[in-house]
Amino acid sequence: MTVLVTGATGNVGRNVLQQLLAEGVSVRATSRNPASLPSGVDGHAADLTDPGSFESALVGVDKVFLFPSPQGVHGFVAAAKAAGVRHVVVLSSSSVVGDDTSNPIARMHVTVEKAVEDSGIAWTFVRPGGFATNTLRWAPAIKDDGGVRLPYAQGNIASIHEADIAAVAVAALLNDGHEGKAYKLTGPESISQARQVALIGEAIGRPLWVEDLVGEEARAELMTWFGPYGTPEIVETMLGYLKSQVGQAAEVLTTVEEVTGRPARTFAEWAVDHKADFS
Ligand SMILES: NC(=O)c1ccc[n+]([C@@H]2O[C@H](COP(=O)([O-])OP(=O)(O)OC[C@H]3O[C@@H](n4cnc5c(N)ncnc54)[C@H](OP(=O)(O)O)[C@@H]3O)[C@@H](O)[C@H]2O)c1
Repeated sequence: MTVLVTGATGNVGRNVLQQLLAEGVSVRATSRNPASLPSGVDGHAADLTDPGSFESALVGVDKVFLFPSPQGVHGFVAAAKAAGVRHVVVLSSSSVVGDDTSNPIARMHVTVEKAVEDSGIAWTFVRPGGFATNTLRWAPAIKDDGGVRLPYAQGNIASIHEADIAAVAVAALLNDGHEGKAYKLTGPESISQARQVALIGEAIGRPLWVEDLVGEEARAELMTWFGPYGTPEIVETMLGYLKSQVGQAAEVLTTVEEVTGRPARTFAEWAVDHKADFS
């Protein structure tokens, strides 16, 4: 069996690739710029917005880990089907759960899920909530200033380790019984963003300060976090979410353990795994 990992240089895709290699699976890996793939990996340059670029990468592929790009997804699944792909495991988002059509992130993921579902190829949707890697945005401030300014620092979240998202995807790729399933995932604990900063401080052996931002200051900070992707719609969605989480426990699910057989990694473990990013 050969598995194609798209987005193979990304936070999740890189872990999917490593975990499949550790299982001895034949893998092919794509991204637009695959230069940073591990040596020895069968890597191809291919752009999901240009499905024709996958012609050689799809030859002989049985299963696909799909990074979500709404642009080009219909062409990609048609090419995958023509190449004989039997199962597509989609990196999606918990934002699709519910009927919030005002959420632009949810709309984008629904487009991808629906295209895969409509293709007739067997599918599994992996729907994580907030990634722990989102806190990597704080690295420059932590390194340069010893602390971070945070929109609604007391807002609670249950961030998930990218290796756990990948482990669920790999379980779905390698084992029977995951076809037609959608897995909503969270990390194993609800903690505040301020507590996450403290745990990063413990991992790197330095106490860190936090400035709690609200209102317009919080909005402005989020716009700088999102940079060119920070449309007003996305910033307002995130701002509203963080504000609503102050004094509110984040939802914690046990899906990672149910699917993989091992508990989800804590944020403290994530911080230790990433201490070089903050040092
Ligand atoms: N961050 C969160 O809290 C969160 C929560 C739920 C869901 N999500 C979803 O998860 C995804 C982000 O995952 P991630 O953090 O693993 O991503 P990432 O680290 O940004 O990596 C993206 C990967 O996809 C490749 N890629 C990007 N655009 C591509 C294109 N047009 N064609 C081919 N390859 C492309 C990139 O490589 P190249 O640049 O070389 O192409 C890279 O390998 C997003 O769709 C997001 O909505 C995120």
